Amino acid sequence: MGPDEFAARLDAAIDIYTAAMNPPADQLAGRKAIMRNHTTYPDFACVFAERADDLLVGFAYGFHGMSGQWWHDVIRRSIGERAGDPVAQGWLGDALEIAEVHVHPGYQGKGTGRAMLHALAEGRRERTAVLSTHDQPTAARHLYHTLGFVDLLTEYVFPGGYERYAIVGAPLPLVVRAGETAARPTP
Ligand SMILES: CC(C)(COP(=O)(O)OP(=O)(O)OC[C@H]1O[C@@H](n2cnc3c(N)ncnc32)[C@H](O)[C@@H]1OP(=O)(O)O)[C@@H](O)C(=O)NCCC(=O)NCCS
Repeated sequence: MGPDEFAARLDAAIDIYTAAMNPPADQLAGRKAIMRNHTTYPDFACVFAERADDLLVGFAYGFHGMSGQWWHDVIRRSIGERAGDPVAQGWLGDALEIAEVHVHPGYQGKGTGRAMLHALAEGRRERTAVLSTHDQPTAARHLYHTLGFVDLLTEYVFPGGYERYAIVGAPLPLVVRAGETAARPTP
């Protein structure tokens, strides 16, 4: 789906985000504004996971990273400082930046997250995919690793933040494991 379809279902997406991440209630309005702004970024694309009755159970989205975008500029500078500009350029110079991936807790562990990421990355023209995730042994960390993502920064604290994140990147196309079909969840 494109930006208009995502914007039209933003409230349902925020409900999934809230159930999956359990954020403080006072952060939801800000998160919603950030997600709405992301729809204006170049080559924005999203994937919805729905039940047969159209109930939304998961979503993922990303866009083409560009200078002038907050996450892109902060991470590019940090990788450059840590590993040098050529490394930062290699990972972020032509990247699909995956901003959100969430599955409602009642539907996790059924292959939906993996299928959404394959669907999101399929056919993208970028050289790499990059994202940030909590630097903890989570399902997300495991999932990204099996799709080919490697750690670019660990224990990373965003400016003004306090939580520790891992910044990870993968060459595109993503790894499809033996016996798996991309973009096809387990029934
Ligand atoms: C991360 C998330 C999107 C994955 O979606 P999902 O549909 O549950 O994932 P999948 O069913 O495709 O499973 C992906 C892998 O994670 C593993 N996994 C699922 N739940 C797990 C858990 N609680 N602990 C450890 N691994 C887990 C699965 O076993 C699978 O690995 P495998 O194929 O090697 O067995 C989902 O768990 C989620 O929404 N989490 C909360 C929000 C979040 O952290 N989002 C990511 C922010 S960066």
